[in-house]
Amino acid sequence: MGDMPAQSGESAHLQDGGSGARHVAIIMDGNGRWAKKRGLPRSVGHQRGVEAVRRLVRGLGPLNLDCLTLYAFSSENWKRSEDEVDDLMNLMRKFIKSDLPEFVANDVELRIIGDWQSLAPDIVAMLEDALAQTANGTKKLAVALNYGAQHEIARAAAKAAANGEITAEAIEAQLDTSDLPPLDLLIRTSGEIRLSNFLLWQAAYAEMLFVDTLWPDFKPEHLAQALDDFARRERRYGGR
Ligand code: IPE
Ligand code: IPE
Ligand code: MG
Repeated sequence: MGDMPAQSGESAHLQDGGSGARHVAIIMDGNGRWAKKRGLPRSVGHQRGVEAVRRLVRGLGPLNLDCLTLYAFSSENWKRSEDEVDDLMNLMRKFIKSDLPEFVANDVELRIIGDWQSLAPDIVAMLEDALAQTANGTKKLAVALNYGAQHEIARAAAKAAANGEITAEAIEAQLDTSDLPPLDLLIRTSGEIRLSNFLLWQAAYAEMLFVDTLWPDFKPEHLAQALDDFARRERRYGGR
C-alpha cells in the first residue's frame, strides 16, 4: 500500500488497453478527511469528490475498460447526519443534471446497482430518465446507490429460490451486476482496508488494491497506475 504518485507516462502497455482488466470497481472513500485536512466542511469534500468522478469518467477513454463501478452511497450511509445525507442527495441531483448530456455524448451507458428505487421519488425519476437516455451507450458506468452487498445477495437468493433453484449460478444470475462483466479489480482509496459491504460476492476472485490517496485527489493517472499494477498480477483462481 502507499500513496500513488500520478505518473502518466509510465504505462506503456496500457496505451493499447493492455492491462487485461475489463471491470474495475472503486470504493470512493476519504472525502471527509480531505476536507478536514483543509479545515473545510465535509460538504466541500463531497463536492470535490464529485469533481473527481467527473474527471475520471472523462479520462476513461484510453483505459479501455468495459465497465467502471463506483460506490457512491452505501445502505449504511443513512446513519450519517441528516445534513450530510441531504448534501449527498443534492449533489447527486446536481450531478445527474449537469453531466447527463456529457454521458450521452461520450457513449456512456449508465447502470445503477443497489436499492436505488427507494431513494427520493424525484431522484428515482431522474435516474430512470438517465438510464433511458444512456441505454445505447457502450462504456458501462455502474453507480452503486443505496447499495449493500449482503442485501443484494439476499434479494438475489430470494429470487433464485422463487425460481426453484438455489445454486451459486442461479444466485449470481439474480445479482444487480448480472449483466456486467466479471469484476477484475477492486480499488479503495483513503487508506481504509475493508470492503464496507461492497460487491462481496463479485469480489471472490477480484484483485484488490488499497491506496492512501483520498478520493478528491484521485485522478485518471491513478487509475492507469492501478491498471498497470493489475497487469503484473498473476490470477490463479485456485488452480496451481
Ligand atoms: C466517501 O467519503 C463518500 C461517501 C461515503 C458518501 P467519506 O464521507 O466516507 O469520507 P471519510 O471517510 O469520512 O474521510
Ligand atoms: C464506503 O465508505 C461507502 C462509500 C464509499 C460510498 P464509508 O466511509 O461509508 O465506509 P466505512 O464506514 O468507513 O466502513
Ligand atoms: Mg469514509
